[in-house]
Amino acid sequence: MDSQTIPLEELQPAKKQTGYKKPELNKNSVRHIKELSLKNVKKALYDRHHPTLTTIDIEAHAEKVYKILNLKAKHDVLMLGHNYMEPLVFGLSGTEEQGDSLGLSMHAAKTESPYILFNGVPFMAETAKILNPSKTVLVSDKTAGCSLADNFGAEDVRKLKALYPGVPVMIYINSYADAKAESDICCTSANAVKIAQEMPGDEILFVPDIYFAENLEEELKGEKTVIYPGKGNQEKGSVCEVHEKFLLSDLFAIRQQFEIPKGHPKRTLYAHWECRLEVLQEADFYGSTSQIRKDIAKRVEENGLERAFIASECELTSNLSQEFPTVQFWTACSVRCSHMAKVTIDKVLNLLEALDSGADLSPYEVNLNSEVIERARRPIERMLEIT
Ligand code: 13P
Ligand code: SF4
Repeated sequence: MDSQTIPLEELQPAKKQTGYKKPELNKNSVRHIKELSLKNVKKALYDRHHPTLTTIDIEAHAEKVYKILNLKAKHDVLMLGHNYMEPLVFGLSGTEEQGDSLGLSMHAAKTESPYILFNGVPFMAETAKILNPSKTVLVSDKTAGCSLADNFGAEDVRKLKALYPGVPVMIYINSYADAKAESDICCTSANAVKIAQEMPGDEILFVPDIYFAENLEEELKGEKTVIYPGKGNQEKGSVCEVHEKFLLSDLFAIRQQFEIPKGHPKRTLYAHWECRLEVLQEADFYGSTSQIRKDIAKRVEENGLERAFIASECELTSNLSQEFPTVQFWTACSVRCSHMAKVTIDKVLNLLEALDSGADLSPYEVNLNSEVIERARRPIERMLEIT
């Protein structure tokens, strides 16, 4: 970003409004706070380095961004934004409110805001609700799913537990609360290895992601046995419909097309943990969405990273290309998560207008029964303690 850029999170309403609390600023920022006005919002958007944020996008949406930021401040809404959000939606969250599943869960665990608006898919919002049962947790589209969570439920966990009594059950965070309630500990792609290592015994039952389980098995080779659906049993697991699209042959082709040889000091091929084992083995680096971001920041700083391809959801790359303008990024643009894509700027505005007018929030509110909250909290809190 150049020195004139105004990050959206630094724009604040001119007058103090009812319920408005000063948002926490990015600690590294030394810029003066700018007034939240349509003109400043447009300037902030135009100043972004972003090949997919054009004049058309900005002129069509700046006023909505302006209204959203006003309502967000007015009602003291914590607006969490997953790394897969499209750039306009992602930018509605301050840098401290953006991140991967782990970072966002940790943030949700310590907020004091009365409202948590989760720009992500509902299983993520459920985690925020479990950690904040007395708060109002909202998502702009409750119909958004996730192929991992939708295809593996509480009954599937129970069946596996019956097959392997006494083996600790570790569940990927991409699952619904009732399945988590049946499990001993939760994990994300940012902490799975550490959590598995901390669990007692030399076996772990991992659900539901089959590719993730195979990757974990490889990481823990000789240390711990990983049991999972379909491995020595007839149970079914699930896979991420987005990451399964990347094949080893694609990675070879990408290396050639974008001239990213394996191990090149300034060119890197990244993959997300949810990809197949052979894809991870071919990648130069793999991790969670935020671990990928962190590695890019490190390589930019230390080696002058010049080129990167990211085998993951395509909007992750859109957001990274904004943050790291000196790096040439590529990704597969058609590889979008149709569930994450359901969160749009229009839906976020509709939700906040409903909140502002005192309308019924039930179309947006995430509610869970108290017994599920109680039981699902344990595996999530254990994960947060270890992390
Ligand atoms: P992260 O935890 O890496 O953000 O991943 C979440 C997700 O849904 C990946 O598909
Ligand atoms: Fe689920 Fe995959 Fe979409 Fe992530 S990218 S929300 S794992 S379907």
